[in-house]
Amino acid sequence: MSRFYFDHNATTPVAPEVIEAISEALRSGFGNASSIHAEGQNARQLLERARRQIAAYVGASAAEIVFTSGGTESDNLAILGLARNSRAPGKHVITTAIEHPAVLESCRQLENEGTAVTYAPVGPNGAVVPDEIRRHIRPETVLVSVMHANNETGIVQPLAEIAAIVRDVRESGQKIYMHSDGVQALGKVPVNVATLGVDLYSMSAHKMNAPKGIGALYVRKDVPLRGIQFGGRHERARRAGTENVPGAVAFGRAVELASAEPIWRKLAQMRDRFEQRILDATHGTEINGAPAFRLPNTSNLYFPGVDGEALIIALDLKGFAVSSGAACSSGSVEPSHVLLAMGRPKREARQCVRFSLGRYNTEEQVDALADAVIASVQQLRGANRKERLEQHA
Ligand SMILES: Cc1ncc(COP(=O)(O)O)c(C=O)c1O
Repeated sequence: MSRFYFDHNATTPVAPEVIEAISEALRSGFGNASSIHAEGQNARQLLERARRQIAAYVGASAAEIVFTSGGTESDNLAILGLARNSRAPGKHVITTAIEHPAVLESCRQLENEGTAVTYAPVGPNGAVVPDEIRRHIRPETVLVSVMHANNETGIVQPLAEIAAIVRDVRESGQKIYMHSDGVQALGKVPVNVATLGVDLYSMSAHKMNAPKGIGALYVRKDVPLRGIQFGGRHERARRAGTENVPGAVAFGRAVELASAEPIWRKLAQMRDRFEQRILDATHGTEINGAPAFRLPNTSNLYFPGVDGEALIIALDLKGFAVSSGAACSSGSVEPSHVLLAMGRPKREARQCVRFSLGRYNTEEQVDALADAVIASVQQLRGANRKERLEQHA
């Protein structure tokens, strides 16, 4: 049976060009980038080239890119590294209720350390309201962390507007900075950190056709960030540990590919057609987050009366990989904190499924997925009806 993959917000297949680049780097770039001999210098050159590629892709300068092990570490480094470094008495941080656990748990750690944290709510369409953030800013606020795009619903947040609010407060003399988790946005919408106006921006390579274990954090020049792991003075003393040169090369090649061949238009067309077919053929289905601006590849659908896990399993058996939302929480019975924050009751949040398209999906595959979803929803609803009738017999 052929398999079709529609869970790209969890992770993506590695592009053949990236596999080639990483293989070559493993062969020829094995040196330690801190060594002064030729092998070390070769590794350093590969690392710095990758840094320039990533910087160019997001409109930063190379010195502002810190390599990390992925999105989780980038979020941890941004939040803990900035907040712990601030000497403000009664420190306060603002984030939102719909962040990824990498951000939420970093904030919980800050709370354990005595920092106050506000978790701003979102509107029913899943978008953060900039005025809500403005309302929560206090003289002690040192950091605002708002994700660029949500991993479960794909909703793209009004980041530039929120960053402008933070910048205005900073210009009045307060040492306050803006972080954004850009893990899901990178590669799916244009990202320019200067236009967005953020001070810190988290990235992860495995969401854009590169391997796991490599990511980056954009740290705007002059942002007072201190490393959170201890050891050598790698990455301008912001991230101790021998650099993952092949990983960085892979990430560099992936952004090069993404910029040579952007996929957002193709993804949006396929996603919109998919949604239309499902809406036309299944009763009561709703798009979580619509009509807010969403990532072009993401479709999170509510199927009333259909258990989300049962639908995921039914589709898996037919050869389609889809998910209930955050990869980290799938497999658990807890309903999504994102959908709950958007106002879905627990029962409804369990009746939602996320479909996320990627670079190698074709129209035929998406049509086959739509057929399979429609048939499975009808089967599951039929089975539910039969069960209810039997219970009442
Ligand atoms: C929005 C968001 N932030 C952070 C992460 C964590 O990234 P990584 O898997 O690279 O640690 C993910 C991964 O799902 C994510 O979707």
